[in-house]
Amino acid sequence: MDEYAADTYGERFAASYDEIFADFTPRPAQIELLRRLAGPHAAVELGVGTGRVAIPLARSGVPVVGVDTSAAMLDQLARKAAGLPVQPVLGDATAPELAPELKAGVAYTVFNTFFMLPGRAAQAACLKNVRALLQPGGAFVVEVFVPRPELIAPVRIKSFTATEVVLQVSQHVAGEQRMDSQDVVLRHGAPVQLMPTQVHYLTPHQLDLLAEESGLALESRHADWDGAEFTPDSAKHVSVYRRLP
Ligand SMILES: C[S@@+](CC[C@H](N)C(=O)[O-])C[C@H]1O[C@@H](n2cnc3c(N)ncnc32)[C@H](O)[C@@H]1O
Repeated sequence: MDEYAADTYGERFAASYDEIFADFTPRPAQIELLRRLAGPHAAVELGVGTGRVAIPLARSGVPVVGVDTSAAMLDQLARKAAGLPVQPVLGDATAPELAPELKAGVAYTVFNTFFMLPGRAAQAACLKNVRALLQPGGAFVVEVFVPRPELIAPVRIKSFTATEVVLQVSQHVAGEQRMDSQDVVLRHGAPVQLMPTQVHYLTPHQLDLLAEESGLALESRHADWDGAEFTPDSAKHVSVYRRLP
């Protein structure tokens, strides 16, 4: 998608992100898993956004470093996390030597954010960063959807009221395992808003291979944060990788 950069999603969504995803409060099991994996060390969230997960994790006692490419997202985070051990860092999860001084107990990227990294080379660069910023034996947690491109509707209605319609218009580029979409917000009497997202999806097996090439071995995979069994029909997975020695 032309004119789509690493901070486009964050800059467009930041102001309304918490309202759009108000129903996606993290479950206690998610915070507990991340807290347990962090142990006595810090956690790093890649693509922290407004702190939907980082804030409750910090409240549970874990210092969190939150990396994001979007200054607008980090402004929201800083405002909401005042007084908590959350450090917002403006940076790209795929940039070389992202945070060489860090030695975290857990790194995580949730809510499909890993697929927002622009392609296989960028995803591999991120995994290399993850390995470098973890303690030996540290954990990396990824939450992403299981791709089913055949189910992508070119246009679907996301919400519909008397004053506002939100349509999602999507384009699938099969050869690149890429999906571009626009949430088109039509509000009575207001200018049209376009909220773009681009994902480069991987199958669970492709993700495992990429992680392994970066020195991260799959430890567990579940269908949700509560530990439901992962099956071929699961819509998403929560996968935990361990840093190999
Ligand atoms: C779907 S949001 C998820 C936010 C938060 N993790 C949550 O679960 O609510 C994805 C976030 O990743 C950020 N992002 C996208 N590409 C990134 C990159 N290359 N490096 C760091 N952050 C990135 C976006 O700005 C956005 O804040």
